Amino acid sequence: MRILVTGAAGFIGSHTSERLSEMGHKVIGVDNFSDYYDVKLKELNAKALFKKGIPVHKTDLCVDDLASLFKDRFDYIFHFSAQPGIAVTSTFKDYLDNNFLATQRLMDAIEDLEHKPFFVNIATSSIYGLYATMTEDEAPKPASWYGVTKLAAEQLVLAYSRRGLLKSASLRLYSVYGPRERPDKLYTRLIDCGLNDKAFPLFKGSEKHLRSFTYVQDIVDGIVSVIGKEEVTNGEIFNLGTEQENSTATGITTVEDILQIKIKIEHKPARPGDQSRTKANIDKARKLLGYNPTTRLEEGLRAQVDWFKDNFC
Ligand SMILES: NC(=O)c1ccc[n+]([C@@H]2O[C@H](COP(=O)([O-])OP(=O)(O)OC[C@H]3O[C@@H](n4cnc5c(N)ncnc54)[C@H](O)[C@@H]3O)[C@@H](O)[C@H]2O)c1
Repeated sequence: MRILVTGAAGFIGSHTSERLSEMGHKVIGVDNFSDYYDVKLKELNAKALFKKGIPVHKTDLCVDDLASLFKDRFDYIFHFSAQPGIAVTSTFKDYLDNNFLATQRLMDAIEDLEHKPFFVNIATSSIYGLYATMTEDEAPKPASWYGVTKLAAEQLVLAYSRRGLLKSASLRLYSVYGPRERPDKLYTRLIDCGLNDKAFPLFKGSEKHLRSFTYVQDIVDGIVSVIGKEEVTNGEIFNLGTEQENSTATGITTVEDILQIKIKIEHKPARPGDQSRTKANIDKARKLLGYNPTTRLEEGLRAQVDWFKDNFC
């Protein structure tokens, strides 16, 4: 099959592109190489994909002409591109443009195609709000610009399904970690601080936060499992993540144990909108997609430490 992956130069998009290609699909990536974090990291990911026969075209879904993207037909779109995170440096416009308007422009470009691809929207547990432990049918209560705009994008995509204009599904991912994890996220930052003798910024109260920290290959298993299951996935939302819960404090000690280094901590004020607890309820994904994430935190973090040492030490 021919598959378009948006945000292909990013963390999860790059891993998913590789997996889809290994499965025998023809994968085309697009990414605007935004400077939310070091562009060199995205270029490194795109280079790795290129070596595996996956092109990543520089396209900004907010401004570039998208009709030309669809000159060739696609069977699936995996839509990863987004303004992620809850950094104070990101403005409301960043979230609105890259999460909502970019998705609307994509839907607009697809609506009139004769052969419409199945649209897999990549959403987030942040849609649920400060406590993300629920099933997919409970009312979302997002508490950040990120969560609100990702919810709006998800519902926009599903509205097209409800109106019978195309087929789609939305996957709500829970705290993903592993090789290529974004530098603004917990584990890449912890490993960097440990190995490079920097102080780790610990946001007030965050050591007690509980998370379904999910290894990236376990997330990719769930994402690619939607292929060929249109009868059960069209118009549906699925939570994807591990049922194992770990606190940030456990995350810190696990990295310290792997590195055999005590990490210096710099205490920072709490971040508004930071989730207190996420625990993926994956009953629906288990039943309908056969989803079964298995990687333990320590095992996944060892792989992430190896990746970091191979690339940055
Ligand atoms: N990382 C996580 O733990 C996590 C958890 C839940 C959901 N998600 C979702 O997964 C997806 C990927 O997240 P990630 O952590 O890999 O982030 P990422 O920032 O590494 O990847 C996103 C990519 O999208 C690109 N992009 C942004 N705006 C664009 C635009 N207008 N046009 C084209 N490309 C654009 C960026 O350059 C980046 O390479 C996002 O939709 C995010 O909301 C991530």
